[in-house]
Amino acid sequence: MITKLSPIDTAKFVAAKQATSYVQSGMKVGLGTGSTAAWLVQCLGEMVRDQGLRIKGVPTSNRTAELARDAGIEIISLDEAKWLDLTIDGTDEYDSNLSLIKGGGGAHLREKIVATASDKMIVIADASKQVATLGAFPLPVEVLGFGMQTTQNLIAEMLISADVLGHEITQRMQGEAPYVSDEGNFILDLHLKRIGNPRQLSLDLNQIPGVVENGLFIDVCDIVITGHGNGRVELRDIINDTHDTVQFDVQDDGNLFADMAE
Ligand code: 5RP
Repeated sequence: MITKLSPIDTAKFVAAKQATSYVQSGMKVGLGTGSTAAWLVQCLGEMVRDQGLRIKGVPTSNRTAELARDAGIEIISLDEAKWLDLTIDGTDEYDSNLSLIKGGGGAHLREKIVATASDKMIVIADASKQVATLGAFPLPVEVLGFGMQTTQNLIAEMLISADVLGHEITQRMQGEAPYVSDEGNFILDLHLKRIGNPRQLSLDLNQIPGVVENGLFIDVCDIVITGHGNGRVELRDIINDTHDTVQFDVQDDGNLFADMAE
């Protein structure tokens, strides 16, 4: 039976599928977190099972580790891997410099460590993630539980002179309880609306004691692969300064869709 994906899932799927073309046997690959990265894990799992692809995956969250194990991908720790050939991950926003806001799924700390320890970072996204200016998506900041209110006050004070439009800060919740990251920390979401100088903001945030890591990824991402609901995929490579387009035949790919959507 052919299961039809929604346009948004088609967009995420084709971006993830295209990203697998960068993965070769023998590689150590950072595996991102989120719904788009979940498609990637499924695609790679299928290649491991059906095509004999041999990779070692370093997951960026406990959720992804579980998905990868279920998909049959060998998992190792970052310290075992030491360095990665490639990391493929989703994003919440990207701009024309391929600067990112990540952490909507609460995993940006591990995601940044893993991506930074990779020769290349590829972001996979649906077209809604592309923005002219970062900041409409609330910026996640992972903070220590110790003195969290003091840390929040210091962030609020710093934001007064930062090049941003909004200043509201909320604590990430999971139902009634505070959200706790895989590292046991909390997340503050900064509702900045517009970030004029992401590089400076990232530096300023990480200078505040109690801040563990913020969700701005500057000069980390090399390639963005953007999927569309009609199967079109755009590839923007900032290192080689190229912009290519690929068209997936979403109808002809029905079997694959059916396998993955069920
Ligand atoms: C998790 C992330 C995700 O990559 C980001 O939230 C995008 O998720 P999705 O692919 O579900 O839209 O940064 O911390």
